[in-house]
Amino acid sequence: MLHEVQPKNADINPNSNNTKQPFVRACYAARWWPKTADPSFLALEPKVAQSVADLLPMLLCGEASAELVFAHATKIFPKDKHPALHRKLQSIEEDEKRHSVALTGLTHLLPSPSSSTVTKQTARFLRRLASWDLVTHLLRISAIDTGVCIILGELCRPHTALAKSNKLIEVLSSIRQDEGRHVRICRECIDALGVEKVAAFNERKEVLEDFAALMSAQAETLITLAVDPMRISKRFAYQARYKK
Ligand SMILES: [Fe+2]
Ligand SMILES: [Fe+2]
Repeated sequence: MLHEVQPKNADINPNSNNTKQPFVRACYAARWWPKTADPSFLALEPKVAQSVADLLPMLLCGEASAELVFAHATKIFPKDKHPALHRKLQSIEEDEKRHSVALTGLTHLLPSPSSSTVTKQTARFLRRLASWDLVTHLLRISAIDTGVCIILGELCRPHTALAKSNKLIEVLSSIRQDEGRHVRICRECIDALGVEKVAAFNERKEVLEDFAALMSAQAETLITLAVDPMRISKRFAYQARYKK
């Protein structure tokens, strides 16, 4: 499931009676964004805010279906037999819920995406990756999280157009840190399940190559953000060759 980007005029007033209120309360409760936040809170130039809005569907990639898969994974690693892994998987599930709230909350502070193309391409990419097999899904989610770590890492570098937006950098860095941990936990689960190394490598390589192709279509947006698309492409290629 792909998280929907909220309409740009979505109500963020805590006193509002509209149907988004539980979600908005969750945003405040998670302390990602202050109650009084409006688009000026992010301190982004309009074209930068637009570029972030255009990239957001891809950043939401890591959240897509992850929450569900980890809820399922906790059943494969029950508490009584695998207490440590079970706890770690539960923590991922909680992280993904928080990320989803943070990133969806961010859409309230940004303009609408300039086109629906990225959302559609991302949805297609995710649909191709859907699998009922838990091991395959874990391998794919781990590869997606690796890709999201690369993108967030590049967006948060000190020279980018986002660098002056302290709160945005804080939120994205925090998500990046969590995603790195998710990749490590996924590998632990994959090892515990005794997945054949060649199969795991091939699955990861394929996902990262497809994700890199999706990103390469965003070169112009990345350049607006003072992010080097070639660097991202090289980092994806390096990770796709990486054998654990
Ligand atoms: Fe996430
Ligand atoms: Fe994740």
